[in-house]
Amino acid sequence: MCSILRESSIVKISRICFSLILVGLVTSAEIVSSELPDQTTMFAINEEIGVPGWGVNNSDYCYWKGIQCSSNQTVEVLDLSSCWLRGNVTLISDLKALKWLDLSNNYFSGPIPIDFGNLAELEFIDLSSNKFGGSIPKELGKLENIRALNLSYNFLVGGIPEELAELKKLQDFQISGNKLNGSIPKWVGNLTNLKVFAAYENSIGGKIPENFGSASELEMLNLHSNLLDGLIPESLFANGKLEVLVLTQNRLTGTIPEFVGNCDNLSSIRVGNNNLIGGIPKTVGNITSLTYFEANNNNLSGEIAVEFASCSNLTLLNLASNGFTGVIPSELGQLTNLQELIVSDNSLFGDIPESILRNRNLNKLDLSNNRFNSTIPVDVCSTSRLQFLLLSQNFMRGEIPHEIGNCVKLLDLQLASNYLTGTIPPEIGRLKNLQITLNLSFNHLHGPLPNELGKLDKLVSLDVSNNRLSGPIPTALKGMLSLIEVNFSNNLFTGPIPAFVPFQKSLNSSFSGNKALCGQPLSSSCGNTNGDDQDIYPHKVSYRIVLAVIGSGLAVFVSVTVVVLLFMMREKQENSAKDIGSLGIVDDSANSKPLITAGNVFVDNYRQAIDFDAVVKATFKDGNKLSSGTFSTVYKATMPSGLVLLVRSLKSVDQTIIHHQNKMIRELERLGRICHDHLMRPLGFVIYEDVALLLHEYMCNGSLFQLLHENSKKPEYEPDWPTRLSIAIGVAEGLAFLHSVAVIHLDISSGNILLDANMSPRVAEIEISKLLDPSRGTASISAVAGSFGYIPPEYAYTMQVTAPGNVYSYGVILLEILTTHLPVEEEFGEGTDLVKWVQSAPTRGETPEQILDARLSTVSFAWRKEMLATLKVALQCTDNTPAKRPKMKKVIEMLQEIKEK
Ligand SMILES: *[C@@H]1O[C@H](CO)[C@@H](O)[C@H](O)[C@H]1NC(C)=O
Ligand SMILES: *[C@@H]1O[C@H](CO)[C@@H](O)[C@H](O)[C@H]1NC(C)=O
Ligand SMILES: *[C@@H]1O[C@H](CO)[C@@H](O)[C@H](O)[C@H]1NC(C)=O
Ligand SMILES: *[C@@H]1O[C@H](CO)[C@@H](O)[C@H](O)[C@H]1NC(C)=O
Ligand SMILES: *[C@@H]1O[C@H](CO)[C@@H](O)[C@H](O)[C@H]1NC(C)=O
Ligand SMILES: *[C@@H]1O[C@H](CO)[C@@H](O)[C@H](O)[C@H]1NC(C)=O
Ligand SMILES: *[C@@H]1O[C@H](CO)[C@@H](O)[C@H](O)[C@H]1NC(C)=O
Ligand SMILES: *[C@@H]1O[C@H](CO)[C@@H](O)[C@H](O)[C@H]1NC(C)=O
Repeated sequence: MCSILRESSIVKISRICFSLILVGLVTSAEIVSSELPDQTTMFAINEEIGVPGWGVNNSDYCYWKGIQCSSNQTVEVLDLSSCWLRGNVTLISDLKALKWLDLSNNYFSGPIPIDFGNLAELEFIDLSSNKFGGSIPKELGKLENIRALNLSYNFLVGGIPEELAELKKLQDFQISGNKLNGSIPKWVGNLTNLKVFAAYENSIGGKIPENFGSASELEMLNLHSNLLDGLIPESLFANGKLEVLVLTQNRLTGTIPEFVGNCDNLSSIRVGNNNLIGGIPKTVGNITSLTYFEANNNNLSGEIAVEFASCSNLTLLNLASNGFTGVIPSELGQLTNLQELIVSDNSLFGDIPESILRNRNLNKLDLSNNRFNSTIPVDVCSTSRLQFLLLSQNFMRGEIPHEIGNCVKLLDLQLASNYLTGTIPPEIGRLKNLQITLNLSFNHLHGPLPNELGKLDKLVSLDVSNNRLSGPIPTALKGMLSLIEVNFSNNLFTGPIPAFVPFQKSLNSSFSGNKALCGQPLSSSCGNTNGDDQDIYPHKVSYRIVLAVIGSGLAVFVSVTVVVLLFMMREKQENSAKDIGSLGIVDDSANSKPLITAGNVFVDNYRQAIDFDAVVKATFKDGNKLSSGTFSTVYKATMPSGLVLLVRSLKSVDQTIIHHQNKMIRELERLGRICHDHLMRPLGFVIYEDVALLLHEYMCNGSLFQLLHENSKKPEYEPDWPTRLSIAIGVAEGLAFLHSVAVIHLDISSGNILLDANMSPRVAEIEISKLLDPSRGTASISAVAGSFGYIPPEYAYTMQVTAPGNVYSYGVILLEILTTHLPVEEEFGEGTDLVKWVQSAPTRGETPEQILDARLSTVSFAWRKEMLATLKVALQCTDNTPAKRPKMKKVIEMLQEIKEK
């Protein structure tokens, strides 16, 4: 399916088919029996909505997908979630015995039928993630048995009708992600059974009612991103049941109530981006379950409560952008679970408590823009797993300790605008994971740049400007293969600027203010003494940079996306050159509407259907998040047109890239034109502020990894053998096509195989492969690419990504499909992955049958035979000798033959 047009015509055709079948079934059913009580209604619903699979096998609707009947054949459960359905759902209200109605995640539109109010037995209704509009019908107030009501993520307007006050049994009430306004009625907090109330991302104003929650069992209250003002009522904490409180991004005033300490089950308190004042109540120490405390961007003041030290499960403490003073209590070092301590933009001073640095779990320490006036402790990384050390804009003194070289996990090191003295320790070259920024600018550092910096081959941005550094810029820096942004300005550097593309592509302001520096990009030439240094760089910069990033196995994808982003940022810069000045300055205030600076849809059929604003907005909703990594997060985004997209959000690390570079975008465009049923191509991109978003079609059935390893724990979702085999063939076809156009995939894994509504597979992340295309004369890479368990053994010494390498990874997927085992599992034993486990079965005395997933291989003789034949193919694919592995085309032939026999 290559376009919306084709997709919709398939839907139409299948509807016609269903209608035809239906005519036949209705007649035969009438002859056989007319007793089934919901027969007419169910056939009418199927005719209106056209549910895939309904009526195909049987006219007894109780056997249809998503249906459960009571003993007298009335429909009790109707679950049509996530089926890409549209149509008029009013008829459902004729299913009088219905207890459970789930229409979530479809394209149903129009008003919510008022007749749903007549479903007197209804206990559960989920209409979330559709396109229902209009207001919430007051008739729903008649659903006196309802326990869960979920209307989230629709286009509902107006207020919450008073009639719902009658829903005395309501436990779970969710209306988030609509356009509701008005205020929160007082009675909501009086619903005595209410446990969950979520109304976030609406335009609800007014105050949170006084006494809210005091009469209820409230465990979860989430009202973020509304227009609420007034105080946080103490009543929320009155009965001590609250577990999650999210009030972020409103206009709340007053203080955080002392009463909060009443709730010892409270694990998450998020009240950031409000107008709260006062201090942190000392009672926080009583909240023993506290895991997240987020109160950034308020007007809180006073000292950081030492009582936090009693919250032994605290993982994240974010107090950024407030008016806190004093020191960081050293007692916080007792918080052994603390992963992120973010206190930037306050008026804190003193030293960095060593007790905190000794914490083994600390991952992010952000003290930027305060008044910390100590030295950088010698044991800064003696035990921690620190990835982010952000100390810029303080009054830090002394030298950068040599022990900084112990911070081997660091991704980002920012020490700018302090009073650091001494030289740059060569040990900094040991920070091999450093990839975001190394910023030492605006200090008092002197001496030469150490050659060891050249070992930072993943680093994208280096800023040593505005110091007193001297000597030449070492040619060893050419080892910084990922470098995109540099700044050496305002130092005492001398001699020629080394011939290194990232240098010559920089603005001359990156080198200015060094009187004795010469050569490109500066206008002062060095004379003809350095002919040797003028060698033209052999590769195109984009591939060079991109290649260098491969060095890190799993981190490959992550790093590459950053690079892609950076190229896009350059494009953005280009496009928005008019608003100079504001460029690159990231406005962190979450209130401002994001300014989309660039965006394009490559694929014609989608151009009308994609709304960039809606894409960006979707990434703001936590509920849309599908998966997340260090630098990128994948979201589901529903367009106003009804189209659903998969959006990958890449977080920027760069703010001042100047050069025009649209090569990456052209590569993406070219890939957008690939039309193959089993490849997932990029549809376009959007850039706003410092974020770049890549757009893809949404695959409603998740990944093959989920299908095999998560869903299959529930027997009803267990994919049967024919389904698995056709997925395997589809993947093989996608890969064979890639190979036929000389593209080698870099990260084949079951997580990268996505499944569409028909369970047809698509190979994802081909754009990364393309950007790293080894056929372009850059075949040698510095280390191994791919995901753990899928990496062919020869990559370790050939350091080359090859088509036979892809065949190996594909073979691992085949084994996953056959065994339902993960590529790496503890039960295989130390150093043994799935391939070795399968290969060593004979030595363990196991037969091939014992390797297969018995839930499938014991179903029928035919299935077992096919599985054994497929196992042979998988073993050929995972042969240790690359030359013995079949080509992907041959694999398709072999699997087709198995299927057809
Ligand atoms: C077809 O209907 C029968 C009952 O008549 C049921 O047992 C079987 O699971 C159904 N098959 C499918 C594929 O729905
Ligand atoms: C079928 O049973 C349900 C309860 O299981 C009951 O509410 C309904 O009235 C019954 N319907 C008929 C037609 O007997
Ligand atoms: C749905 O069908 C009902 C009749 O069954 C009709 O009254 C209603 O207007 C229709 N709704 C829409 C949105 O077309
Ligand atoms: C909607 O809410 C119900 C409970 O009210 C919950 O079970 C369901 O998961 C929610 N649906 C979605 C899509 O989040
Ligand atoms: C809510 O309950 C309180 C007592 O807990 C009562 O005083 C108040 O009138 C009730 N409010 C509404 C709107 O029912
Ligand atoms: C709660 O914290 C306060 C202040 O730290 C303390 O005085 C009080 O005893 C604590 N209450 C309970 C129930 O632990
Ligand atoms: C801390 O977290 C652990 C693991 O989630 C949990 O078992 C424990 O009960 C929590 N401790 C407190 C005091 O809530
Ligand atoms: C750090 O700053 C604080 C507050 O200005 C001051 O009291 C203290 O003496 C300073 N410490 C050092 C070591 O300069």
